[in-house]
Amino acid sequence: MTTIAALDAAVLEELVSAAVAAPSMHNTQPWRFRLNAPTHTVEIRAALDRELRAEDPEGRGLHVSVGAAAFNLRLAVAHRGWEPVLRLLPDRREPQLLASVRLAGRSPTAGDIRGADLYEQIWRRHTSRRPFSPQSIPRALRTELVEAARAEGAVLHLPDAGEARRLLVLTREAEVRSLTDQARRDESRDWIRPGAATGFGIPPEALGPQDTTGHLPMRDFSGLRPPTHLPSQPFEPHPQLAVLATAHDRPADWLRTGLALQHVLLLATREQVRTSMLHQAVEWPDLRWMLRDPHNGPEHVQMIVRLGYGPDGAPTPRAAASSALD
Ligand SMILES: Cc1cc2nc3c(=O)[nH]c(=O)nc-3n(C[C@H](O)[C@H](O)[C@H](O)COP(=O)(O)O)c2cc1C
Repeated sequence: MTTIAALDAAVLEELVSAAVAAPSMHNTQPWRFRLNAPTHTVEIRAALDRELRAEDPEGRGLHVSVGAAAFNLRLAVAHRGWEPVLRLLPDRREPQLLASVRLAGRSPTAGDIRGADLYEQIWRRHTSRRPFSPQSIPRALRTELVEAARAEGAVLHLPDAGEARRLLVLTREAEVRSLTDQARRDESRDWIRPGAATGFGIPPEALGPQDTTGHLPMRDFSGLRPPTHLPSQPFEPHPQLAVLATAHDRPADWLRTGLALQHVLLLATREQVRTSMLHQAVEWPDLRWMLRDPHNGPEHVQMIVRLGYGPDGAPTPRAAASSALD
């Protein structure tokens, strides 16, 4: 059994660097990490000073982001040869403590738990907001993505072209509403951070064009006044969407969505498949309800991912791991 003495400051920082490479809504990185040395546990708390009050009033997106970071942390712990024991919401008395990963000792197989090949993808994955080619996703990978989501306690649906069109119409409606809602528009524009000096927010070069055909409503973060005005381009006519959903809609389900999201994104990245997210309709309760496909029974849609082959996204900065550690 390894003692925590083996977890020196450099290793802890390496684990946290992997965690903070996770995607987060508007790249707010709404997490703080702390080592609980006596229990050999790395704890993740919500950074409530980076909440998105207008666009994410319940903190659902914040939990999804933290879940994605927890997935990376678990992967990094396993990569280092420890057995990771993940707990969601481990202490009811402390609701800001969203997840913890205990290093349960050396395990010769720990590195294989989520596949060593996925660990490398943590730094290769970037959101790509560019048009994708019409090439479809191989059946074997689609099956793997569905199983990955299931392993984390969520479900992943891969809608056909007709259902995808319906989801995109709802997404367009959400996009129009968000652009005409001043508080939301100001909030998302505030997270476009040219120069990325602070390590938070989205640099303009990571944004993509709008779709000339109008059927793929990419999020207009800059609220009708783009900081870099990329000319519109035609996007793929039949986008491959993936819908992540959960049976319930509690904070633990939002965290599980984040685990599933990151598992799916890293698997896709390993296979050279690019990804971006279309979260707009999930942010409006009535539209979110309509995103549900009744054929799938009662469930709560948590995220829409767009998958495809195309140019890689530009890297988005992160605050240093040391500054995310208490
Ligand atoms: C809960 C959540 C919602 C997101 N919503 C969107 C979205 O609607 N549109 C979009 O382009 N990106 C969206 N993103 C992606 C983030 O903007 C992105 O992860 C962040 O800027 C960091 O960049 P990276 O993914 O390239 O590391 C979302 C991410 C999360 C976790």
